[in-house]
Amino acid sequence: MDFRIAGALALGSMLAVASCDRAEVKVATSTDAPHVVAASDIEAGRYLVKVGGCNDCHTPGYVQGGGKLAETEWLKGNPVGYRGPWGTTYAHNLRLTTAGMTEDEWVEMLGTRQALPIMPWPSVNAMSEADRRAIYRFIRSLPGEAGTPAPAALAPGIEPTTPYENMMPVMPKAS
Ligand code: HEC
Repeated sequence: MDFRIAGALALGSMLAVASCDRAEVKVATSTDAPHVVAASDIEAGRYLVKVGGCNDCHTPGYVQGGGKLAETEWLKGNPVGYRGPWGTTYAHNLRLTTAGMTEDEWVEMLGTRQALPIMPWPSVNAMSEADRRAIYRFIRSLPGEAGTPAPAALAPGIEPTTPYENMMPVMPKAS
């Protein structure tokens, strides 16, 4: 076989493989860390707070109301505790948290803190910096009163004086 024909055949099969590879790539990529793209940083923050479930714990009545609670009530903290082997924790008032720190301090805290359940720290630790900034800006833009601080966390064995959700693991009775 003429070496030019062999070369053309080899090139042809390489192109076939390459175009096949391209067809399998369906997701747009860039060199940036994955992050939400929206019309504005506030919109990105609103989206992240919604899909990140922050209201589920930090906004009383949000889940029970089917997520229809007005933004004036969002993220004011929860007076109902989460009691488990870690003690009793209360989802903080994030309006007060953000008002008490700079954006950079917030970004650092969300990126590195590993504290008590049932706050999903590993999930927020995994967020890109752009997303952590967007959440801060959205919370700072929320309308309505700032509200009051949530109760302080209690050590295991301390009896809460507030209502709480019992999250103690229960062993099924032996049958
Ligand atoms: C499953 C319930 C739950 C969800 C969902 C949740 N949190 Fe929390 N969060 C908590 C609890 C409980 C605490 C208090 C933990 C403690 O006392 O250490 C907390 C604490 C925090 C704190 C510390 C505040 C401070 O003043 O020290 C921040 C910040 C925070 N949450 C942000 C978020 C964000 C942002 C989201 C959404 C991406 C979110 N949380 C989703 C339950 C939750």
